[in-house]
Amino acid sequence: MITKINDLLGRVEAFAPTTAAEVEEFRIKILGKKGELTALMDEFKSVPAEQKRELGQKINALKQAAQARINELKATLQSSAVKSEAIDDMTRPGSAEADGTRHPISIVKNQIVDIFSRLGYTVAEGPEIEDDWHVFSALNFPLSHPARDMQDTFFVEKASNEPNVKDLLLRTHTSSIQVRAMEHQKPPIRIVCPGRVFRNEAISYRAHCIFHQVEGLYIDENVSFADMKQSILYFAKEMFGESATIRMRPSYFPFTEPSAEVDVSCNLCGGKGCNVCKGTGWLEIMGCGMVDPNVLEASGIDSKKYSGFAFGMGVERIAMLKYGVKDLRLYFENDVRFLHQFDSAL
Ligand code: PHE
Repeated sequence: MITKINDLLGRVEAFAPTTAAEVEEFRIKILGKKGELTALMDEFKSVPAEQKRELGQKINALKQAAQARINELKATLQSSAVKSEAIDDMTRPGSAEADGTRHPISIVKNQIVDIFSRLGYTVAEGPEIEDDWHVFSALNFPLSHPARDMQDTFFVEKASNEPNVKDLLLRTHTSSIQVRAMEHQKPPIRIVCPGRVFRNEAISYRAHCIFHQVEGLYIDENVSFADMKQSILYFAKEMFGESATIRMRPSYFPFTEPSAEVDVSCNLCGGKGCNVCKGTGWLEIMGCGMVDPNVLEASGIDSKKYSGFAFGMGVERIAMLKYGVKDLRLYFENDVRFLHQFDSAL
C-alpha cells in the first residue's frame, strides 16, 4: 500500500496539464467517488492496526497535496486562458451590440409623408418656436379665440423689452409652416408639414403636452372639395388597408371653410363596432377643409384666382389606431421592450 501511495503522490506532483479540462479529468480520476484515492481509503480500512497511524498520515498528506495541486493548476490555467484569449486572436470579432429600432412615431410619420409624396406633395418644415402671426393671426383666429388662451399655448418669455419684438410661443400646430410656405411660394403649392407641436394639456392616456402632426396644404386653380375628399380617401386606404372607407362630418376651424372632421372605418372590427371605435364602427383621424379666402389673402395669394384645401392629423393618434396601442404615454417612455415591437422597414 505504501508503494501505491508514493506512486500516486509522484503522479500528482508530476502532473502537467495544459488545459483546465485536463485538470478536471484528473481530479475525477484521483479524488472522485470512484477515484484512486477513494479506493485507497477503502483499502485503508482493512490494514492491520499497527500500520494505521503511519499509513493514515501518508494518505491524508496525499489527499491534501492532490487537492492543493489541482486547485493551483485550475487557477493558473483559467487565468492564462483568459489572457491568451485577449491577446492571441486580434482578428476575433467583438461581441455584437443589439441594433436599435426606429421609433413607432417616426415609422408612422414616414409612412404618412411617403403616401402623400406619391400624390406629389413635398415636405416643408418650420421652427418650433413661432410668433403669434404664423400660428394664429395669419390663420384667421379672431383675437378672442380660446386657442390663444394661456390654457392651450406655451408662451416663451420675451427675450427683450423692445416693443417690436413679437410674442414668441411654442407652435400649437404645424399650420404655421403652411403660412410660411404661402408667404414664400407661388401656387401651385403642394406640401406636407410634419413636426412636433406643443399644447398646455394635462397628460393622460389620450393627450400629451408634446405630440406630432402631419398637416397638408394644396393650393392651385380650381381645387375643389371633391379633390380633397379623394386625396384623403387614398391616404386612408394606403394607411389602413384597401377596404378602408371614410366619412366626413361638418366641423369648424378658423382657417378653413367649409371644415370637416374625417373618420375612417374601424380597421379592428371592420366597421361592425368594437370597444376601440366605441361601437360606432368609425375612428376619427383628422381635420380638414377648404382654405378660408381670408387666410389666402393674409399671405398674399389671390383668393379669386386660387383655392385650396388643408388637412391635419396627429401622428400619435394614427399610430395608436394602426398598432392598437391604448395609451399614448407609451410613445414617450422609451421603454425598449415597447419600442422593439414595431417594424422598422421605413
Ligand atoms: N391645425 C388643425 C389642428 O391642429 C388641424 C387642421 C389642419 C384642420 C388643416 C383643418 C385643416 O387641430
